[in-house]
Amino acid sequence: PGVRPLIAGNWKMHGSLAEAAALAAAVQAGAAGAPAAELLVCPPFPYLHLVAGKAGPDLAVGAQDCHAAPKGAHTGDVAAPMLKDVGARYVILGHSERRADHGESDAMVLAKAEAALAAGLTPIVCVGESEAQRLAGEAETVVTGQLAGSLPEGFAAAGGVVAYEPVWAIGTGRTPTEPDIAAIHAAIRAHLAGRFGKAGEGLRILYGGSVKPGNARAILALPHVDGALVGGASLVAADFLAIAAAL
Ligand code: G3H
Repeated sequence: PGVRPLIAGNWKMHGSLAEAAALAAAVQAGAAGAPAAELLVCPPFPYLHLVAGKAGPDLAVGAQDCHAAPKGAHTGDVAAPMLKDVGARYVILGHSERRADHGESDAMVLAKAEAALAAGLTPIVCVGESEAQRLAGEAETVVTGQLAGSLPEGFAAAGGVVAYEPVWAIGTGRTPTEPDIAAIHAAIRAHLAGRFGKAGEGLRILYGGSVKPGNARAILALPHVDGALVGGASLVAADFLAIAAAL
């Protein structure tokens, strides 16, 4: 109660301009049918402006990354104020694919999150353990360590979002057990409350990793699961909307 769940679609590096336009329009058209959730789509950079133009009040738009500097000589990068300028409200940061493909450390994610806050964007900071870490019993330690290193001071005041995504559950069709998801979300909540006090209790914690229409209801019903970060299923409007309707 109190927190409006967030169902976020991470389109990753998929689609054409025409497909982005059609997907955004279809999600926008169905958004009013899932009033319990706040809906968010995060298209690739080149499609952001177009998608933001299609989104109405029921659909927010976000980016998948930003640079830590507000401007400068950074060929190929995109600054947070630019994202804000084209209509983004959120930015996903520290996704495991960026941590793996671009060597993003907690310190880099922290700097990016500070840049996002300074630009008036809401950061969605991603954390999650690898399969080896899970098997070694280190999942909670890894996740709380990532949070300690990645969340900036102003995170709670700005309503920042945390996304828990076990790396081994992304795009694999595998998910942790419900008790395992609940245990990590409880640990994340405790960390947020410990660090930010009362404000940390109201922040949204999303689960991500193979969320589909078929498992969404059970996952979203777990304590301290305040929404989902959806990859593959967010590329099909009917599936994404079905996940949002599972709340
Ligand atoms: O950001 C989204 C996630 O990486 C989850 O992807 O739903 O395809 O497993 P997935």
